[in-house]
Amino acid sequence: MEGIRIVATGSALPEKILTNDEMSRIVETTDEWIQTRTGIRSRHVCEKESCVSLAVEAAGKAIKSSGINPDEIGAVIVATSTPDYAFPSVACLVQKELGLSEELMAFDLSAACTGFLYALGVGRGLLHSLAKPYVLLIGCEQLSAIIDYTDRGSCILFGDGAGAVIIASSDRRFYQKSWARGNAEYLNCVGIGRGTAKISMKGNDVFRFAVNAMKQGIDEVLSDTGLSMDDIDWCICHQANQRIISNVQKQFPGQEEKFFLNIENLGNTSAASIPLVLDELNRTGRLQKGMKLLCVGFGAGLTWSGALVEL
Ligand code: UT7
Repeated sequence: MEGIRIVATGSALPEKILTNDEMSRIVETTDEWIQTRTGIRSRHVCEKESCVSLAVEAAGKAIKSSGINPDEIGAVIVATSTPDYAFPSVACLVQKELGLSEELMAFDLSAACTGFLYALGVGRGLLHSLAKPYVLLIGCEQLSAIIDYTDRGSCILFGDGAGAVIIASSDRRFYQKSWARGNAEYLNCVGIGRGTAKISMKGNDVFRFAVNAMKQGIDEVLSDTGLSMDDIDWCICHQANQRIISNVQKQFPGQEEKFFLNIENLGNTSAASIPLVLDELNRTGRLQKGMKLLCVGFGAGLTWSGALVEL
């Protein structure tokens, strides 16, 4: 498949940090339980910020560091499950707040934690039909707005944040495979006008699905591209639970360091998790031309996806 180039990245996190100890004052839990079962120590939660303000901040940083003319952005795609409004979309408000040209397509995409990878596939497809050379992809979440803080089985997992990536066409290698299997039992949040919108999760069922989905995402991308984990520079997994990632790591002994982890201080930020990793790697000089990234994610839907991105 025709490839993409990562032109620039950006990210934004709410100021407020909610530690496990603070969480243990909200529900019956402990720092030790949360760390052992999830690898999470703290997460950021919105007080003054919102999904839109985080998206605007992350995208603004990406545009600034890219040096591109923002008028050359042909589409803004926001992956989120927690938009400020059902409509207008977060993407339209990003266009407004950043003063982007009106000659673009702006829309939100709903695929829960797989949202950013789905957006990557959609954005890559659009690059070949738009008149403009750049697509702005954003993964952003204000999950704290829909967390059920009486459910200790789920509230300890999630955090807020946003990551943004500007992409352009390239002749480098790109491959993606995505899946969907309708299921509202394992993980859901009812829609507007249908009761109190809060996350409802069967953690064990999601865990089992996640381990298989991550394995399938990695295995099929590697076999379809004729690559092995030896050829991959970074394996960027959706940061849902450190134990899920450890389970995948075990299948590739000696290559554990390729699996980047930042869940400890961010929690599970759903659609924002993969672009937040990309931005952290980029800002710290750990993404270089020619590198091969294997990105893999899963989420409600059920949805899952794996992608090979050659930089
Ligand atoms: O992005 C996709 C989103 N979701 C996920 O990725 C979630 C995937 N699932 C998970 O990460 C894990 O299933 C959880 C972290 C949610 C839960 O961990 P677990 O090891 O599967 O725990 P469990 O649900 O099997 O519960 C074990 C015990 C239970 O007590 P009993 O019945 O054994 O006495 C729970 O009541 O732990 C108890 N428990 C807790 N204890 C202290 C559940 N939550 C907590 C808690 N603090 N926060």
